[in-house]
Amino acid sequence: MTAKERQMDKRLLGTNGLQVSALGFGCMGLSFGYGAATERSDAVALIRGAHDLGVTFFDTAEAYGVENEEVLGEAVAPFRDQVVIATKFGWKDGSPRTGQLDSRPERIRIVADQSLQRLKTDRIDLFYQHRVDPDVPIDEVAGAVRDLIAEGKVKHFGLSEAGAQTIRRAHAVQPVAALQSEYSMFTRDPEAEILPLLEELGIGFVPFSPLGKGFLTGKIDAGTSFPEGDIRNSLPRFQAEARAANHKLAEEIGSLAEAKGVTPAQVALAWLLAQKPWIVPIPGTTKLHRLQENVGGASVELSPDDLQKLAAILAAIPVQGERYSAQGMKMVNR
Ligand SMILES: NC(=O)c1ccc[n+]([C@@H]2O[C@H](COP(=O)([O-])OP(=O)(O)OC[C@H]3O[C@@H](n4cnc5c(N)ncnc54)[C@H](OP(=O)(O)O)[C@@H]3O)[C@@H](O)[C@H]2O)c1
Repeated sequence: MTAKERQMDKRLLGTNGLQVSALGFGCMGLSFGYGAATERSDAVALIRGAHDLGVTFFDTAEAYGVENEEVLGEAVAPFRDQVVIATKFGWKDGSPRTGQLDSRPERIRIVADQSLQRLKTDRIDLFYQHRVDPDVPIDEVAGAVRDLIAEGKVKHFGLSEAGAQTIRRAHAVQPVAALQSEYSMFTRDPEAEILPLLEELGIGFVPFSPLGKGFLTGKIDAGTSFPEGDIRNSLPRFQAEARAANHKLAEEIGSLAEAKGVTPAQVALAWLLAQKPWIVPIPGTTKLHRLQENVGGASVELSPDDLQKLAAILAAIPVQGERYSAQGMKMVNR
């Protein structure tokens, strides 16, 4: 592979020089959320494969299990200085399975030290609060991360699924480099209030589940069964009836992709990249051929006509089913 092929456009998150590849790589599915964990050596190879393809931005979290951060740290060790590592704190005892949050400053400090150890690195480039903790004022959370930044353990501060007021308050204490929330043609919640706010404040945006947890690729339909331990088994939007209703959307996106000679996944990623120059999606996959396909999405140009057609498709086919359970919906946008 030539050096040119390895180049991917870069984007800036926030106003303090956090530069990353236009597409990042989400490590979650390597050990959390979508069934059995990927074999460690395969996961390391995949992450290194992503770097070979020009990806310089890797996303993990305490909540994805000890091995997720460990695998990422091992994989990027040979080229650590060339990549940006993002991880997250904020679940009680580090596990979303508790259903409880913990963003007390003392806990944030412990998570930072443990994450540094697991990642085998001396700094976390981007440290997100995974979910807003209603029991800890956001000023205290931002203050705790500000202290870690002053000590050099953390470089940049991020939030995930935070509401507008929380973002403003946090940003006033410690500038927020990036908000990471769900955004894709399958979930457009951030468009009304959050994206204009981020533009106003100069905060970058990292859409998670940019492929709609796989749905926008067209590979999931009413007949698909997910393995045991796959979160999609419990998400309203992935129940059989909703899947059947939503499949029309994936089909229409698929037709547009086919006409352009690209894939639906690539259209889904190119659509996000076309929304704002400070948006950096982080698709996840456990398969090298899909990684290559997804990275190709960074070079797909959607014309104004393509974007208009997609807008018409999205307007005509409203997505059926919430993206999270009732409990999960209570934890977002607050
Ligand atoms: N902040 C948060 O609360 C939060 C929540 C969720 C996720 N995230 C982050 O966002 C990252 C990405 O989100 P995500 O993994 O939920 O969703 P996603 O990237 O939208 O989709 C991943 C799913 O799509 C499949 N897939 C990927 N590329 C494909 C392709 N080209 N063709 C067909 N199927 C494809 C994957 O299966 P295979 O592995 O079989 O390819 C996997 O099941 C995560 O890794 C994580 O880092 C953050």
